[in-house]
Amino acid sequence: MAEIVITTPDDAREVYRHKQLRQALYDAGEVVMEDVVVNLHGDEHRQRRRLENRLFRRDTFYEYERDMFPSIIQETVDPYLKDGKAELVDFGHQLMMNLAAVTAGVDRPLGTYEETSRLYDYLTTFIEGATLGHYIGDVETKRAEIEKKLEAFDKEFLEPGIAYRNELLKKFGRGEIPEEDLPRDVLQVLLRNQDKVPMTRESLRREIAFYLLAGAHTSATALTRVVHNIFKWLEDHPDDEEKAYNDKIFLQKATHETIRLQPSSPTAARWALEDIGLRSGIEIIKGDKVVIDLETVNRDKNSYGEDAEEFNPNRELESGITPWGLSFGQGMHACIGQDLAAGLVFDTNSTEDDHLFGLVPVAVQTLFLNGCKPDPSNPPEMDDSTTRPYFGKYPVLFGS
Ligand code: HEM
Repeated sequence: MAEIVITTPDDAREVYRHKQLRQALYDAGEVVMEDVVVNLHGDEHRQRRRLENRLFRRDTFYEYERDMFPSIIQETVDPYLKDGKAELVDFGHQLMMNLAAVTAGVDRPLGTYEETSRLYDYLTTFIEGATLGHYIGDVETKRAEIEKKLEAFDKEFLEPGIAYRNELLKKFGRGEIPEEDLPRDVLQVLLRNQDKVPMTRESLRREIAFYLLAGAHTSATALTRVVHNIFKWLEDHPDDEEKAYNDKIFLQKATHETIRLQPSSPTAARWALEDIGLRSGIEIIKGDKVVIDLETVNRDKNSYGEDAEEFNPNRELESGITPWGLSFGQGMHACIGQDLAAGLVFDTNSTEDDHLFGLVPVAVQTLFLNGCKPDPSNPPEMDDSTTRPYFGKYPVLFGS
């Protein structure tokens, strides 16, 4: 069994799209990831994805970004603005969790600070579960802890959410409420289709936990990195200060550029289910592991120019080149939340009023339009509990 590392965009696209290459990234994280959509293959994956695609459509994303998210963002950021400071790693996870909870279908009926803190605690445990392969410490103890937390999460958040949604489905079935009154979330979609694509309670629990972490963790890590990259950019390009603190398109481009250079998951991985020859001549043998090195793929000079290694939020690209590289994947497992997270590319037909910016750019805009700056007396620190390059702490100040 060999490990084959893919470093070019063409090979990467071919690997992502190959039907005989199966997800390999979450083998160690099966406590949360065992049968969630990103880990399913073939027909099982197709069925689940088809259901969830019904929710993840552009009209839903517009509704989220325009109608549902602004008040959540305001409520989350207000206490920090009042305080004049924030620690971005925590803030980003709280904010993105609040948004991901809406998408996943995790209600917080009490609406209290304590309830949100408990959900946040569950989320951090699920993140540890999904990334158990990179955990530094006793993996078995951690796994048992995560299993317990999943059950507790089910009891506190999932059970009442299921009861509430099943009740709504009954009312809808009796014609007592219109379809628009059904929540637009993953849990509702899965419950509504239990007769066609049944799921055990454990599977449902893992899927919702996965949506919570898929939506929150990727977006939160991206948020801190974008802010950091903009701060660094401004040190060398002070003329762009005006844009950084006023121009929403600049901030969206900075987000896309960050996601290209620092993909939330720096690699994708697949197991070969049969012998495969890629068009470039690479030979893959059944049982081999194929690893896409996204950091290298996304720095391809043919696509991004001679300075492809550098962060440049003013980068101009030829049409057809995605500004985020392949950081959202491609093919059957392509990120279902891509447009929700990063929005659409602003082009000559777009106007700011009708543009979908994406929740990470909107969060970055919220910070910069409120004068976010590095805290000179509290430099950022890296997270030393994982081998992945995450910030552990990133203090910032707000002000004019
Ligand atoms: C910056 C933000 C994000 C990044 C960089 C990102 C990245 C990715 C990548 C690379 C994959 C493909 C994994 C693979 O092929 O092995 C993926 C899949 C997925 N993402 Fe995202 N994601 C982001 C945000 C989101 C959000 C906001 C959601 C949900 C609301 C989400 C939900 C999913 C789901 C459900 C899948 C699995 C799709 C499938 O297997 O069919 N992601 N994401």
